[in-house]
Amino acid sequence: MNKQEILIAAGNYIKKGFTGETTGHDFYHIQRVVKTARKIASEENADLFLVELAAWLHDVGDYKLHDGMDKSEELISEFLFELNLPKETISKIIEIVSQVSFSKGNAPTSLEAKIVQDADRLDALGAIGLARTFAYGGSKQREIYNPENPEETSIQHFYDKLLKLKGLMNTNSAKKIAEERHQFLEEFLERFYEEWES
Ligand code: NI
Repeated sequence: MNKQEILIAAGNYIKKGFTGETTGHDFYHIQRVVKTARKIASEENADLFLVELAAWLHDVGDYKLHDGMDKSEELISEFLFELNLPKETISKIIEIVSQVSFSKGNAPTSLEAKIVQDADRLDALGAIGLARTFAYGGSKQREIYNPENPEETSIQHFYDKLLKLKGLMNTNSAKKIAEERHQFLEEFLERFYEEWES
């Protein structure tokens, strides 16, 4: 298989596993991360193949959580081994994926990991990030907003996570996109409170 065929196989593998997911980590989230990562990678002169493959696989551990255990390393090895990828490439992909997650809090060590992390975080911003926040909140039984008890609401998630993302971008290309999407979220919140109180 050439690189192009490997990337197509990865896309198909993810489509099979993630279609119909409703928590915001669906196939289209991953597809958008791939597109954004590819765009940033070409601006930042990174390895396009590694970036795109890691982007396809960055959430693989999420859809088959076995007793709360992250199986991404195992699943990625299994999948890429079957495609006859060299061991070094498989290790690189596993390393990139392990450094992407917000909750694991690992700092990315390669340009490729920085880019996939940026692309994943960018998808939490803007109109799509906004929609994903409420979808995810609903899946966790969170209220949209509750002025008497705001802590556990989806609106609170903007302050806990989304509005901090702009300051956490690794690459300049991502910073530019984040700036604009962040602005949109600020405007949304302003309007939200305005309607709430009118
Ligand atoms: Ni993701």
